[in-house]
Amino acid sequence: MKIPKAANKRDQAVIDKLVAHGQQHALRVWDEITPGSRDKLLRQAEKIDFDLLDRLVAEHVTSEKKSAGRSKITAAPVTGQPCTDEEIAEAQKARKVGEEMLTAGKVAAFVVAGGQATRLGYDYPKGMFPISPVRGKSLFQVHAEKILARGRRYDSKIPFYVMTSEASHRQTVDFFEQYDYFGLEPGDVRFFEQSMIPAVDLDGKFLLEAKNRIFTNPNGHGGSLMALKKSGALDHMKAVGIEEIYYFQVDNPLLQICDPLFIGRHRLAKAQMSTEVVAKEDPMEKVGVIGLIDGKLGVVEYSNLTEEEMRERLPDGKLKYGGGNIAVHMINLAFAEKMNKGGLQLPYHKAVKAVPYVNENGEIVRPEKPNAVKFETFVFDALGFCKNSVTMEVARAEEFHPLKNASGDFSVETVQRAMVDMHSRWLQAAGLALPRAAQDRPWAVEIGPLTALDKEELIAKVRSGHSFSWGLCL
Ligand code: UTP
Repeated sequence: MKIPKAANKRDQAVIDKLVAHGQQHALRVWDEITPGSRDKLLRQAEKIDFDLLDRLVAEHVTSEKKSAGRSKITAAPVTGQPCTDEEIAEAQKARKVGEEMLTAGKVAAFVVAGGQATRLGYDYPKGMFPISPVRGKSLFQVHAEKILARGRRYDSKIPFYVMTSEASHRQTVDFFEQYDYFGLEPGDVRFFEQSMIPAVDLDGKFLLEAKNRIFTNPNGHGGSLMALKKSGALDHMKAVGIEEIYYFQVDNPLLQICDPLFIGRHRLAKAQMSTEVVAKEDPMEKVGVIGLIDGKLGVVEYSNLTEEEMRERLPDGKLKYGGGNIAVHMINLAFAEKMNKGGLQLPYHKAVKAVPYVNENGEIVRPEKPNAVKFETFVFDALGFCKNSVTMEVARAEEFHPLKNASGDFSVETVQRAMVDMHSRWLQAAGLALPRAAQDRPWAVEIGPLTALDKEELIAKVRSGHSFSWGLCL
């Protein structure tokens, strides 16, 4: 193809770069597009890390890496829920440390909301989804109110960092503005975008998603570590005295955000990064578990375990590989800095997907078969860089039910049911039994985070004669 000539040095440098890295076909519709579109294409290409792409293509696309054989997988210790007197005393001590950290304002909340939510198929950022069963509060509102309530409980502030990506950024910021930051101080909420990375076709070449745009995808939730650094969020955290970051995903409305027990255990262990897990419901449940991979802490994908391993039990009856990763982490600030020394220290993984593209005739092609390799990093790969780490088990019914799918498991229906069930249990524990609806399910009920963050708070409020401003929706 004829290589276009640019009108200025800056543009020419981008064109030369595309040519030098064998990606000049990204310019093949140059003659058909307006100067404005050309500029858009070049400004996008200018931001690409071509050396990284060359390495990823060489490793994952053009020459398939030879498998070094199966990694050695062993179990990692999990701190279970406290049962014995000794464990209860340990938990009390840890909780106190976590509470002190919160009171001192040393903990930030960090949500990763840069994903594309393809399975849910929602037209807006997933965090805007109206999830709460009675009030229809969005995921963002539920999270923000929990952060506000947690901060108030410790007479302190928890700054909230929100990672978006190119497609979700503007709408996310506007949404928070529209709802007055859900009661948080605007200055305590910071937004930043994660990086995008081009996908390539099966020959390692860029795909055009439009005539003036190379197809890119967010660089995975592992990109959050890089985005924290690049956006200046880590510097901001340091400046306001943050030492630990509570990391969570946007899609789980059940979570106990900034649970002091988790913060305290992580802190007492001098851990660089820690993880919350839930006990697997079934040995064959398809969930990644925390384990040691060739001696390094990480998440073992279920597909890397044999059926025998998945069913194996420890002497106490628990599954050997039973700690299902729920993607809730404590990350030490200095560790997050270290993970960025000399570029992001995480490996990239590939996923082969069907990606629509513009062909040489300028037409959009929607392939039925996978035609593209996407690259992504996973935040849990950072666990392998830790000297110390805590893996803490939490109760699934109180902490984990993410919104992933349009129907079936982990859909709006199951998430709302999990929320109603949890709040009904709290009400029951507080002596307020609920009328039952069909199939012995409680009627829809919702306890807002500002009313009670947990069962204990609700019980205390009921006992103290607190009058609730809401009524049951029957
Ligand atoms: P998932 O892997 O479940 O992806 O992300 P998703 O975007 O929500 O949904 P699918 O897979 O496209 O259907 C788990 C969490 O990680 C965030 C998501 O926003 C979600 O909170 N994430 C994922 C990012 O922030 N960036 C990414 O590049 C990928």
